[in-house]
Amino acid sequence: MTKILMVCLGNICRSPLAEGILKSKLSSDLFQVDSAGTANYHTGNPPDKRSIDVARKYGLNISNLKGRQFKSFDFDVFDLIYVMDESNFRNVISLARNDEDIAKVKFILNEVYPDQNYNVPDPYYGGDEGFENVYKMLDEACDIIAKKLT
Ligand code: 4NP
Repeated sequence: MTKILMVCLGNICRSPLAEGILKSKLSSDLFQVDSAGTANYHTGNPPDKRSIDVARKYGLNISNLKGRQFKSFDFDVFDLIYVMDESNFRNVISLARNDEDIAKVKFILNEVYPDQNYNVPDPYYGGDEGFENVYKMLDEACDIIAKKLT
């Protein structure tokens, strides 16, 4: 079983979308996909309605996901940890205990644009078009991830 964790700030906009998208491209027998936020603002909450809506538009149901905060223990559980932006990267790395932990952490858009460390923009304070844009970016990245892993 390969275990993959998607991480953003709140775990209600970007990472639940990334979780839902990647899950839809991988066999659940072989892969576990989860998501977390570096902040604890939305622990126990469902994804933002705008993420639920854009996912539904593309045939995915993420409405049952629940927000949780990233913890050091996640380094023990997951093989790959994809962050959405450089702030997530710093926050996750700050909890790493050794080089093996650090090596698990990757910018998700580096799958599309290698070594560029581009950010998936935080759509929280914007409009619906930001969520559509994020969906497309994550779908492209998750396609590449799924093809590499299978
Ligand atoms: P996310 O977006 O990191 O993609 O889930 C955000 C959600 C909530 C907040 C910030 C970003 N917030 O400040 O509550």
